[in-house]
Amino acid sequence: MEQDLQGRVALVTGAGAGIGRETAFQLAARGAVVGVNDLKEELAAPVVDAIRARGGRAFGVVQNIATRDGIREAIRRTHAEGGGRFDILVNNAAWVRYQAIPDIQPETLDRMLDVGFKSVVWSLQEAAALMDPERGGAIVNVSSAAALRSAANSVVYSGIKAGILGITRAAAAELGARNIRVNAVCPSAVPTEGTQRNRDAARDANRIARTPLGRLGTVEEIARSICFLASDGAGFITAQALSVDGGITLTNI
Ligand SMILES: NC(=O)c1ccc[n+]([C@@H]2O[C@H](COP(=O)([O-])OP(=O)(O)OC[C@H]3O[C@@H](n4cnc5c(N)ncnc54)[C@H](O)[C@@H]3O)[C@@H](O)[C@H]2O)c1
Repeated sequence: MEQDLQGRVALVTGAGAGIGRETAFQLAARGAVVGVNDLKEELAAPVVDAIRARGGRAFGVVQNIATRDGIREAIRRTHAEGGGRFDILVNNAAWVRYQAIPDIQPETLDRMLDVGFKSVVWSLQEAAALMDPERGGAIVNVSSAAALRSAANSVVYSGIKAGILGITRAAAAELGARNIRVNAVCPSAVPTEGTQRNRDAARDANRIARTPLGRLGTVEEIARSICFLASDGAGFITAQALSVDGGITLTNI
């Protein structure tokens, strides 16, 4: 078991499934104490149980992070459960719908913004207040390849994920003086519960054909890059967007 995050206290939002769940597993395997956030107990609890069964330390943080109070409470709870420290925040949760421009509805736009964008803004206030400048802190925002290269039906998704990169850079500029690093990852499509509804064999084959490494990525690979950015190995890295995409974003135009 790698131990490079031994004793760190981390919160992963939306950790009941997909990339967030795997990130919680890997942070815990590296020795971190992990707050597993999701909307419902039945989503968070199995992840907490699986981490504990492997000898790791975790606790559930059932909270809707789409509101200012919700994300603040999730961070405060993690700080309290972690014995009064808070070192790593992974802003991963998202609620996603792909819609053509005429079909975008106020409810969809609001929910996507609340979960995927506003929560990241509000998280910064609480995280910055609770991270110890002596020890430093790391925030990793989960953006997307869609922040850098767009397709039809993704005005809202691409807009939010590009906004996340702006937040990442601005927050890095502002929080560096408090020894807090802020970075983002930009994954290409990886199979998760969340992407199930938008994937089909033809689309996957097309993506694979355009990807230099000739395959889709995995949640394990995305989580490893998040753990790297959260670790001391990335100690002089801040304000960056790390593409974890098999090369698809910058090739084959
Ligand atoms: N999977 C991909 O192909 C892919 C590619 C690029 C970027 N991403 C990004 O990675 C992140 C995770 O994606 P995924 O595919 O693993 O998602 P997913 O849908 O599989 O899991 C997301 C989790 O977040 C939880 N969640 C949703 N709203 C929440 C809220 N208000 N409060 C707390 N929890 C909430 C859900 O219940 C779910 O368990 C997202 O930010 C997504 O945009 C994913």
